[in-house]
Amino acid sequence: MPERVRITDVSPRDGLQNEPMREDGSPIPTADKAELVRALERTGVDEIEITSFVSPEWVPQLGDAAELCTMLAGTKPAGMTFSALVPNSKGLDHLLQANQDAGERLIDKASVFTAASETFSRKNTNADIAETLTRFKPVIARAHEEGLTTRGYISCVIACPFEGIILPEAVADVARRLLELGVDEIDLGDTIGAGVTETTAAMLAAVLDVVPADRLVLHLHDTFGRAAECVRAALDMGLRSFDGSVAGLGGCPYASTDANRAPGNLATESLVRIILDQGFTTGVDLESLAKAADIAAGITGRIKP
Ligand code: HMG
Ligand code: MG
Repeated sequence: MPERVRITDVSPRDGLQNEPMREDGSPIPTADKAELVRALERTGVDEIEITSFVSPEWVPQLGDAAELCTMLAGTKPAGMTFSALVPNSKGLDHLLQANQDAGERLIDKASVFTAASETFSRKNTNADIAETLTRFKPVIARAHEEGLTTRGYISCVIACPFEGIILPEAVADVARRLLELGVDEIDLGDTIGAGVTETTAAMLAAVLDVVPADRLVLHLHDTFGRAAECVRAALDMGLRSFDGSVAGLGGCPYASTDANRAPGNLATESLVRIILDQGFTTGVDLESLAKAADIAAGITGRIKP
């Protein structure tokens, strides 16, 4: 039997957070975001990162997280996980309130996020790495008390748009500190798509010294078309959980520089094909995934990769 690989689609969060506001200053309509999530529900992905409970001043495009959750109440298929980003206790309060308003545990997982680069951490969350970890401590404890699982993202695991190359040891150090806080899984973000086989393998080797493979997720942006080789390297090293974004939408607004807009995520359609080509299986239906990608492209007016 081929081994099964877990797929998380992050397009409603990572895909949409970097989308510009409409000409009249309004965000993408909440109903369109709900339509995208509903389409992803039909694909059989294991997890959908539906939104984030961050400051609307920082990410105006996702300021409608509460309304989106109300629209999605009662739609989550059995066995599927919904997750959302939370940067601090206030974010977790809002997530728990959204679940209460939905009348169910709509969101099963709270995902905190930090970085292996001090500069990126400050630009993204107004806090250095140590401060982000201090913020997470009560968030992770309370999420667990409320019956949620937790993910801890580490951004810039290969390179930072501001600091350049990031050493594998720096990534492993943050991973170890996140594990000490009790996160259930650690998601390694190549935020600007800088990785190739060798650098990804070196980073993973360092992290695997402190975190078992079954608690790791890889989150790739596909700037230079090298994400496929990084997925293959990670599969070879025992990783079995990956993030993608339908239609390749995505990018962190705080990873953009004056010269370069933050690049899109690895398209979930491509990710699933790479995994199947390597002899693994997923729970994803490719036809439904293509339909979800069409919806994502339609909502954002982008051309599919
Ligand atoms: P801050 O300005 O330092 O926050 O931002 P503060 O604690 O000083 O509070 C300022 C105001 O924000 C207060 O309101 C707070 O209540 C409010 P006021 O009293 O002035 O009216 N506030 C909030 N409101 C709603 N929800 C909250 C919240 N927290 C405070 N959760 C903060 C610090 C962390 C909040 C801010 O920097 C932030 O929201 N950053 C998020 C940036 C972001 O979402 N980036 C993209 C996601 S990460 C990513 O894309 C990478 C990833 O994909 C992996 C990869 O690719 O590498 C995950
Ligand atoms: Mg990302």
